[in-house]
This record gives sequence, C-alpha cells and structure tokens, in this order.
Amino acid sequence: MAAIVCYRRIPLINAVHKRCISQDSIRKGLVGMMGRTPLVRLNKMSEETGCEILAKAEFCNGGGSVKDRAALFLIQDAIKKGQLRAGGTVVEGTAGNTGIGLAHMCLSMGFKCVIYMPDNQSREKIELLQTLGAEVRPIPVVPWTDEKNYNHQARRFAESTDNAVWTNQFDNTANRQAHIETTGPEIWEQTAGKVDAVTFATGTGGTLAGVGMFLKDKNPNVHVVLADPQGSVLYNYVKHGKLERTEGNSITEGIGQGRVTRNLEGAPIDDALAVQDTDVVNMTFRLLHEEGFFVGASTGLNVSAAVQVAKQMGPGHTVVTCLCDTGHKYYAKLFSRKVLAEKGLLDCIPKEYQVSLHD
Ligand SMILES: Cc1ncc(COP(=O)(O)O)c(C=O)c1O
Repeated sequence: MAAIVCYRRIPLINAVHKRCISQDSIRKGLVGMMGRTPLVRLNKMSEETGCEILAKAEFCNGGGSVKDRAALFLIQDAIKKGQLRAGGTVVEGTAGNTGIGLAHMCLSMGFKCVIYMPDNQSREKIELLQTLGAEVRPIPVVPWTDEKNYNHQARRFAESTDNAVWTNQFDNTANRQAHIETTGPEIWEQTAGKVDAVTFATGTGGTLAGVGMFLKDKNPNVHVVLADPQGSVLYNYVKHGKLERTEGNSITEGIGQGRVTRNLEGAPIDDALAVQDTDVVNMTFRLLHEEGFFVGASTGLNVSAAVQVAKQMGPGHTVVTCLCDTGHKYYAKLFSRKVLAEKGLLDCIPKEYQVSLHD
C-alpha cells in the first residue's frame, strides 16, 4: 500500500528516471564508468547571475574524480605503445586523485600499481592508496630540479623494471587527449553546442587544455578561462607572460602549478582568474548548503570562477565548469573549524553554514 502511494506521488520523477535509464546503457565494469558524467545546472548560481552555470559532475566517474579520465587514457596509451603488457606495473608520482584513479583502473584491468609521493602527505592518503592495492613509496621532499625528487624516482623505477611504465601525468599528452576525446565532446553534446565559456582550475592542465582545444575547434568564440589558486604561477603567465607566483599558499589540493606542463603547452587560453581562498571556501560551503553538493576545494574554486566569468559576460550566457571530486578526502582539514580559523578562513563562511564544521 505504502509503495503505491509513493509511486502516485512521484510520477514525474519516475518518468524522468526511466528516460535516463533507457539512454544510458549498462556500463562495462569500472573502466566503463569513466566519463559520460551528468552535466548539472547549479540552480542558485544560475539564478543569481542570470546565466546558465553548468558543471560536469566528475565525482560520478568510477574512481570518484576528474582524474579517472586521464588515468584510463594514460594506461591505454602505454598499452597501445607496447610499454605495458598483461600483468605489468603502472608507476606514477602523485599524492592525489591521479593515484586513486590509476589504482582503481589497475585493479580493474589486472595491473600492479606503484605510487611515489612526497613524505609530507597525510596518513589517510597513504592508507587509501594502500587499500586500493597500490604500493606506496613516500620520498623525502626535494624540488623538481633535484634528481631525488619523487617524480624522477618514479621514472627511474619504471625504466629499470621489466613491463612497467611511468605514466607521467604532467607531460604525457595522453592526459589532455582524454578530455579532447571525452569531456569536450560530452559538454558540446549535452549543451547542444550552446556554451559560451568554460573555466577550470589546473593541476596538470589536462582538463582545461583538452576541453578548450576540443571546444575551440567546434566554435572559436568559446571563451576559455584558467582559474588559478593562490601561490600558483599560471595567472601571471596568462595575464603577463611571466612565471611569477601569486601571493599566499592555498588550502586547495591537486591544483596550482609552478611551470607550463606539456599538457598545457599550446592550449587556447583566453583569460585567467586568480581566485582567493576566501572565495574558494565560501563557495565550497555555499555549494553544500544552497545546492546540496559535498565537494572539495578545487570545486569551490571552479564554481567561484564560473560565477565570476558569468558576471563578466552578463546575463544570458552559458558557463561550464566541473565538480572535481567530493569533500570526503578533505574532511579533516577543509571542514575543521580549528584549521579554518588558523588560516583566517572561518569568517568567509556564512554563520548558518558553519554547522557543517567539526572541531
Ligand atoms: C581535486 C582536483 N581538482 C582538479 C584537478 C585538476 O585537473 P588537471 O590535472 O586536469 O588540471 C586535480 C588534478 O589532480 C585534482 O586532484
């Protein structure tokens, strides 16, 4: 009886759901869960700006982040080039989502996964990768220019191991190819070509470059904007041609750069925005309380940038960004009253939203 009442109350939801099911066929394993993510209208942000603020829900990928697309393409590229055969080893230097994406893909595809990371990373990150079957090798922190840097160690280990590949997420353009072949076309199709601007934060630059390249090819008028956190060099690079860091040290993780990666080289970037942590944190909590999305700080930065781009363009435009991953991995820091107070970031969260903080 209860079930019948419930069914009668939500006929519209059932109809919509049925249509979605028929459009989206069965996915083939975890690898099949890479891409074809929903494009979500952020209702409050859209109403506020008079624009359509749309976001690809990248946490819906099988490994839970925007980096799953790159992870799969990097592995497939190595297989295609004969660098990786059945039972081989995938090696990467990463402390974040690329490692998680690679570890998931390796389990699903039957490869071993070895992750090199700086030894200043949290226990949670190491334990998560170990849970996902990866062998984790923490390396003392030294700059890129030092041969003992964790990335160089990852490369050397792969070179000296039979049937192993260093996927090299920063400079292997199979990374941005993932976005040229999947994210870009999905955005074009899901908006029926009605997209005026895209904006993304950059870690490797794969997402921004790949989506930008695909969309510019379809329509050169699409405005491509790089969204940069505090302490990164790319804002000044795009605006003034200088690799000069902006002030501060951002609370965001996985984004911000000190150089132009090969994935970013030649990317058609029209403009850049330097987004302050106060705006990042404010937007992260607005997304939770006003839109219902529990996301990480790079998503707060992306949506904050999308709103700024919309305001610059004026009402009637469509701006697309992405929801990179969920807030779970960042809960200890980003949702801590103590940590935010220490960083001077507590007051940028509206009082009524501070119920989401822990001590
Ligand atoms: C949480 C998060 N957001 C955004 C990005 C940026 O993606 P890309 O490397 O494609 O620039 C990353 C990259 O690692 C990330 O981990």
